[in-house]
Amino acid sequence: MNKIRASITSVGGYVPDFVLSNEVLETMVDTSDEWITSRTGIKERRILKGEGRGTSDMMIQAANEALRKRGISGSDIDLVIACTVTPDMMVASTAAKVAQLIGANQAASFDLQAACTGFIYGLVTASQFVETGKYSKVLLVGGDKMSSILDYTDRTTCVIFGDGAGAVILEPNTSGEGLQDSILKSDGIGRQYLHIKSGGSMYPSTQRSIDQREHFVHQDGQPVFKFAVTNMAQVSEDILKRNNLSGDDVDWLVPHQANKRIIDATANRMGLNESKVMVNIQRYGNTTNATLPLCLWDYEKQLKKGDKLVFAAFGGGFTWGSAYLIWAYDPN
Ligand code: UT7
Repeated sequence: MNKIRASITSVGGYVPDFVLSNEVLETMVDTSDEWITSRTGIKERRILKGEGRGTSDMMIQAANEALRKRGISGSDIDLVIACTVTPDMMVASTAAKVAQLIGANQAASFDLQAACTGFIYGLVTASQFVETGKYSKVLLVGGDKMSSILDYTDRTTCVIFGDGAGAVILEPNTSGEGLQDSILKSDGIGRQYLHIKSGGSMYPSTQRSIDQREHFVHQDGQPVFKFAVTNMAQVSEDILKRNNLSGDDVDWLVPHQANKRIIDATANRMGLNESKVMVNIQRYGNTTNATLPLCLWDYEKQLKKGDKLVFAAFGGGFTWGSAYLIWAYDPN
């Protein structure tokens, strides 16, 4: 019997309506459209507005679109994996809420946290359940309401991130398409450069920690940039070598959208020209766990059955990784 692989059979996405442009940010912090565009490639990002609305609200929209396009309902889903660094609440599982509200009442569910590499870790984890035959329909969602953890007085972080969610459905495939290979990496040395200091078990929130703004994301951009450029490019090159691929064989690079300069460096290292690189950072900024599925969402109509895709990401922790996947369906 042919090997069972996990293939993506549908894609959904959601970004909030509210657009926060570089021009508006210029009125909030000491920055400029010129600086943001030249250093990151970002022109605008989306922000989820509304009291009591969280990451799950965006995930549910993305998930429902993926279900609708596949022609199935929530009750057909066996497992929901929600990749996020901004769960609706601590302790209560966001994945359980998504599963409940899409009608996946029989499904197992859990949250997965691997920072900006979460979607690749999620793709690999979901695939294990499919490849072993344990589950036949897995919903993988990646989403973040980054605006909930940003300090809009800190120009070094607030210009970079945005809100959004994306979802894919994974199903068994015995025709050769689906996930072929992956490389997952981590190095805890990175936590000093990108973290939220308070609100976890080391430093529970106190009035002092809030006054010190320690409940917001802190990033030392330059060291993160150096690690990201080196490691994202390395795992992308490694996965090509391991699978005897050259840049010419790859149809699409699906890179984490943290910085256009990091994306370009990765593509260069793989020998890819820019027409093969998915880029939407200019419209959404860095949506953390949503960047990769939102790329698929935006480019889905250009993907053809048999296309070879390489995913690559780098994020807090540090975590990073790459995945090689063969696309399983034609645009309709
Ligand atoms: O997705 C998770 C992983 N994260 C990443 O991969 C992010 C990696 N890092 C980066 O993308 C870049 O480091 C940033 C975009 C965050 C920053 O770009 P940079 O070219 O590394 O800038 P920098 O931090 O070296 O700062 C250069 C200058 C500084 O001023 P001085 O000290 O040279 O006078 C900053 O204060 O730019 C200043 N600066 C800004 N100026 C205008 C920092 N942020 C801003 C800003 N507007 N928003």
